[in-house]
Amino acid sequence: MTVVDMHTHFLPETWPDLSQKIGGADWPWMRHDGAGRAMLMLGDKEFRPVQEACWNSARRLEDMDRDGVDIQIMCATPLLFGYQRPLQHAIQNAQLFNDLALEICAQDPARLKTLCQVPLQDIDAACAEASRAFNNGHVGVQIGNHVEEKNLDDEGLVTFLQHCAGEKIPVLVHPWDMLGRERMPKYMLQWLVAMPAETQLSILSLILSGAFERISRDLKICFAHGGGSFAFQLGRVDNAWRHRDIVRQDCPNLPSSYTDRFYVDSAVFSHDALALLVKTMGEERVLLGSDYPFPLGEQTVGELVRSQPGFSSRAKRGILGENAMRFFDLEAVSSKSEAMLA
Ligand code: CO
Repeated sequence: MTVVDMHTHFLPETWPDLSQKIGGADWPWMRHDGAGRAMLMLGDKEFRPVQEACWNSARRLEDMDRDGVDIQIMCATPLLFGYQRPLQHAIQNAQLFNDLALEICAQDPARLKTLCQVPLQDIDAACAEASRAFNNGHVGVQIGNHVEEKNLDDEGLVTFLQHCAGEKIPVLVHPWDMLGRERMPKYMLQWLVAMPAETQLSILSLILSGAFERISRDLKICFAHGGGSFAFQLGRVDNAWRHRDIVRQDCPNLPSSYTDRFYVDSAVFSHDALALLVKTMGEERVLLGSDYPFPLGEQTVGELVRSQPGFSSRAKRGILGENAMRFFDLEAVSSKSEAMLA
């Protein structure tokens, strides 16, 4: 079998000074501190420390061999999205990082794949860049889970999702730009509380607005971090739909009946949570995703799934790779991972 980690992040080692090249201020850049360490900067502010696995494909491949991962699918860190920028700046920004991502993959294109990013503040431009990148070798598109106040049920964002469905471009939805940040200044609470809520909000906005009734079933869409708070709170949503007309006014079917319209990754870090997730979504709708190489990611990629009590080997093979092979329509690579499947 082929093991696929479909949620990993990259940063190029360097990129041009975007204020000079594109215009505008406070762009992200990298301050290299030596010994494979760097600081991702935003203007003159330190945003977060990062390490060389972000940009060094030889290091990525070593870590993949260590963990028995055959294919990694990389995507940008959301800080690079540029959704708040003027449109022409955002288009150049997306193209620049999309092209740099392919350079990181070029060392081993069969094993290193990447998702593109798009200037999602403009739907025509976003569709054009998604198609350009997909034709250039990106295997899908990563989008942030909202654009300022617009959730995924926004008419323009639904149009973008329809475009992806029509062109068979798989979509990964990643939470970003977290709600309530003024109340979460410490302890990474934005990542621990707001990110799972953002993802749940996105899924529910598609379900309760009736957007899934209008979007083609051809759409392949996956939500990061196991769908955030979605699975654990789904009973609450179904109960609300049954007993309050304002919950079901735009949603003709029970919310839990829409779980056949989307996928989630496996980044939940707990056997109990993974068991609930697979019970909720079905074993064919959970894809191995680690958030490699960040500290909040799975440190030995695939370990949670491989050691999951009570999963059949068929379920494990699906989650570890076969589901993602179908989702992204990937070609198998000769596998080093078979022996590691418990
Ligand atoms: Co991530």
